[in-house]
Amino acid sequence: MARILITSAIPYINGIKHLGNLVGSQLPADLFARYMRARGHEVMFICATDEHGTPAELAAAKAGKPVADYCAEMHDVQAEIARGFRLSFDHFGRSSSQRNHHLTQHFAGRLADQGLIREVTEKMIFSIDDNRFLPDRYIEGTCPNCGYDSARGDQCDNCTKQLDPTDLINPHSTISGSTNLEQRETKHLYLMQRALRDKLEAWIDSKTDWPVLTTSIAKKWLNDGDGLQDRGITRDLHWGIPVKKGDQPWPGMEGKVFYVWFDAPIEYIAGTAEWADANGLDDAAWERWWRTDKGADDVTYYQFMGKDNVPFHTLSFPATILGSGEPWKLVDYLKSFNYLNYDGGQFSTSRGRGVFMDQALSILPSDYWRWWLLSHAPESSDAEFTWENFQQSVNKDLADVLGNFVSRVTKFAKSKLGETVPAGGEFGPQETALIADLGARIRDYEALMQAMEVRKAAAELRAIWVAGNEYLQAAAPWATIKTDPAQAEAQIRLGLNLIRLYAILSQPFIPDAAATMMTAMGSDDWSWPEHASDALRALPPGHGFAVPDNLFRKITDEERTEWQARFAGVRA
Ligand code: MF3
Ligand code: ZN
Repeated sequence: MARILITSAIPYINGIKHLGNLVGSQLPADLFARYMRARGHEVMFICATDEHGTPAELAAAKAGKPVADYCAEMHDVQAEIARGFRLSFDHFGRSSSQRNHHLTQHFAGRLADQGLIREVTEKMIFSIDDNRFLPDRYIEGTCPNCGYDSARGDQCDNCTKQLDPTDLINPHSTISGSTNLEQRETKHLYLMQRALRDKLEAWIDSKTDWPVLTTSIAKKWLNDGDGLQDRGITRDLHWGIPVKKGDQPWPGMEGKVFYVWFDAPIEYIAGTAEWADANGLDDAAWERWWRTDKGADDVTYYQFMGKDNVPFHTLSFPATILGSGEPWKLVDYLKSFNYLNYDGGQFSTSRGRGVFMDQALSILPSDYWRWWLLSHAPESSDAEFTWENFQQSVNKDLADVLGNFVSRVTKFAKSKLGETVPAGGEFGPQETALIADLGARIRDYEALMQAMEVRKAAAELRAIWVAGNEYLQAAAPWATIKTDPAQAEAQIRLGLNLIRLYAILSQPFIPDAAATMMTAMGSDDWSWPEHASDALRALPPGHGFAVPDNLFRKITDEERTEWQARFAGVRA
C-alpha cells in the first residue's frame, strides 16, 4: 500500500467555474484519487478556493458585498457544486484560512532568513481617480509581447506571458476605466528566484517521466529571454494575507499583503492542516503528508492543473519550497492539461459562453458530464465540446453500450430465471475467452490509469463494456435457453458478475452509476479484480440481485438543439 498525495489547482473564488476549468484540474484529479483508493492506497486529496487577489476584490465589489462575506458565500457555493460532481476531496479548504495565513507568513520569514528576499522600492501605477495603486487585474492594456488588447497587469491571457503593470501599453483602470494614471514609489518584497535557478533546473531535469507539456513550459520559463526573473510577492491591497516575517511584523511593509500567487499554492499544505483540524487530529497527522522529516518521505505527490498554471508549479512554488531550506515535500508528478474549447469558440466566463458547473448539473446528472469530459480530456492538444459529440457519446457509450447491457442481463435473468444468480451449467470456451480478454484489458486499464492517460483509460474502459456486449450478443442466452437451459444459466451468471466488475472498474469515471450497479447486484465488495476469473465468479449461485432503474437515458435531438441555443452566450 502506497501513500498518495493529490492536489488539484485551486479554483478562484470569483464565480462558478465552467466545464473547461473542471476538466483541466479537479475532475482528472478526482479520477486519479478514486482509482488510487480503489487500488487500496492511502490517499490524501486536497483542493480549496483561491480567495485572495484582485479577482476576489473585483467580484465582491461587483456583487456589492464585503469581500470576506463574498468569499465565505462563494466557498459554500463551490463546495456544494463540487459535491454535485462527486469530487471526492478529503478536504476542500480556503486559502483565506488562518492555517494559510500562518504558513504563508512562515515561508516568507524562512525565505528572508535564507537571504532570498530583497526589498525593492519601485514605481507602480497609481490611479489618481481611484486614489489607489493598480496591481494585477486592476489594470489592463495591450500586451507588449503579442499585442492582445486586454492583457492584465499580471499576465496576458492570450500568450500567457507574466507581466508587470508598467509593461502594458495604453493601460487603463479596470475599476473606473480611467487612464489618468501615474507612477508612484512603493516598497515591495521580491523573491530572488534567479538565485535558485540552478537548483530548480536540476530538479526539473531529474523529472524525466513528466509529460512533455509540463517540462516544455517549465524549460521555456527557465531559459526564455533573461531567464527566470525575481518576482514581487507583495501587493498594495487590503484583502489578503498581511505581510509578516513569521509571526513578527515586517518593518516598512505595514498595510500590504502577499501576492495571491505566493499564498495560493501554500494552501495545498494549509488545506491538509485544515483537514486535520476539521477531523480533530493533531499536527503530526498532516505533517506526515508534507514533511519528509516527519513521515512524508514515502509519499508520492501528484499535482493536476491547466497549462496556464504550470510556470507557477514548476518554478515559483518550488522556489518557495526549496528556498525555505526546510524538508517540505516537492511535487513528484505534474499532470497538466490543454484547454477545452466550446462549440466553435472559447468558454467565456465574462460573456457567459459555454456550460458552467451549476448549469450542467441542472440539466443532467454528473455522470453524463464526467464521462464526456474525461473521455475527451484535452491532453495531447486542445479539445472541443460540441453538443453533437456530447449527445453521441452519452447515447452510444453510456446508454447503448453500458446501460443496455445491464438492463438486458438483469431483465432477462429476472423474467426467465428468477431473482438470484442462476446455478446451472459451466463456463465454456466462449466464457473462458472473454475472461482472458478482460484480464488483459484490465491490466492495460490499470497501466493507463496509473500513467494518468485519461482519454486512453476511458477508451479501454469503453472497450471492456463493449466486450461484454459482444459476448452477450454472441452467447444469446435468449436463444440458448430454448436448447440448453443450463448453458443459458451459466451465461447469465457471467453477465451478472460482469455488472459487478463494471461497477468496480467504472467507479472512478461514473461513481453514481457504479453505485447503482453494485447495489443492484446486492454486493458491497469493491475489491479490485486482481484476477478476472475470480472476480467473475464473486457473485455465487443463489445470490440475490435486483433490476436497477435505467442507468442512462438518451439525449434527444430537441434537447440538444435547445441546450445549444441556451448556452450560446450572455449569462445573467
Ligand atoms: N486559482 C488559480 C487558477 O484558477 C489556480 C491556483 S493553483 C495554486 O488559475 F494552488 F497554485 F494556487
Ligand atoms: Zn500577450
